[in-house]
Amino acid sequence: MKILAIETSADETAAAVTEGRNVLSNIIFSQISMHKKWGGIFPALAKRAHEERIDGVVEEALSKLRYQTPNFKTKVRVSKTIKLSTERLNDEMMKRINCLAVTVGPGLAVALEIGIKKAKELAQRYQKKLITVNHLEGHIYSNFVRNRSGNPQREFKFPYLCLIVSGGHTELVLMNNHLSYKVLGETRDDAAGEALDKAAKLLGLGYPGGPVIERMASKVKNKDFYNFPRPMTKSQNLEFSFSGLKTSFYYFLQNENIKYNISELASSFQNAVFDTIVAKSAFAIKQTGVRRLLVGGGVSANQFLRKKLRTLMKGLNGEIYFPPFRYLTGDNAAMIGVVAYYKAKKGLFADNVDRIDRIPRLSISL
Ligand code: KG4
Ligand code: ZN
Repeated sequence: MKILAIETSADETAAAVTEGRNVLSNIIFSQISMHKKWGGIFPALAKRAHEERIDGVVEEALSKLRYQTPNFKTKVRVSKTIKLSTERLNDEMMKRINCLAVTVGPGLAVALEIGIKKAKELAQRYQKKLITVNHLEGHIYSNFVRNRSGNPQREFKFPYLCLIVSGGHTELVLMNNHLSYKVLGETRDDAAGEALDKAAKLLGLGYPGGPVIERMASKVKNKDFYNFPRPMTKSQNLEFSFSGLKTSFYYFLQNENIKYNISELASSFQNAVFDTIVAKSAFAIKQTGVRRLLVGGGVSANQFLRKKLRTLMKGLNGEIYFPPFRYLTGDNAAMIGVVAYYKAKKGLFADNVDRIDRIPRLSISL
């Protein structure tokens, strides 16, 4: 089953064609360079950029298929396909697509609506079924996305404890089976990625903060120099809160009498955020007895976090998984297509395409 998936929940305009867990084409247009000077996602700009790019991104994802379908290749030579109008090419390619998938939430309302509008248009024009997908499910299933050749194999072994760490979310989720989620705990305020982004802003390091903090910290061997608070690690629950840490970091920086080293600050802040994530993950494992951890979301790209979590799971004799390719840690449509495949297997298609709407605060629990 070939699925054309669309994702526009934040600042990436993305489309992919997937078949089962395999990715046949994958296009991501990142708006990061546009939002950089605002120090975060600027909604009106994101909306306009999605509007401008969505058609091109979807067309490119479809056109990549053209070289991958033997029948089409023999019928129409490449030189002829170039002469095809984009519309004809789309029509040809859409014949190969079995259904559509789109992220409906959580995310930025004005961004979500652009992807949804495009998916609805295509579903109606080409008479295809449409599957709605939760962005957070995508980050979990990103661990099971395979390349075109079907690698990595990685089979499902439920139950899993899922740790989602992104710019918008920090959540621990219990997953007992496909598409079955129970939120064990989440952040009360800022997400882990958001905390890193804000700290980087305070340090004048630009946006997005996660990658630059990672680089700065590695310069000082990821050591902890200032021992900032590890919020809520003493409380016996699985909730996170990073806004207090950000505030104490802010006041710490106001002390003009101290000469700071930016790398040491970045490294210490990163340690505080990651130790908190590790402590809460450890507590979730203790509570549930599940020792198989799936990690997803933008922050899961961080090598130091990966090391800390690997050490935790090794000590507990457990298993840990990260998205197998770097692009799968950030936002992309391939992960949305793979979730949609499992929804399609259960017949979970949208009943009424007209009624599909964005759900900016959509939860992953049913
Ligand atoms: O999953 P994502 O692309 O978008 C959301 O769904 O939010 O996550 C973006 C977040 C940003 O906060 C960014 O700073 C963080 O992921 N991030 C990282 C790294 N790369 C991206 N954080 C830590 N280390 C990284 N290497
Ligand atoms: Zn995301």
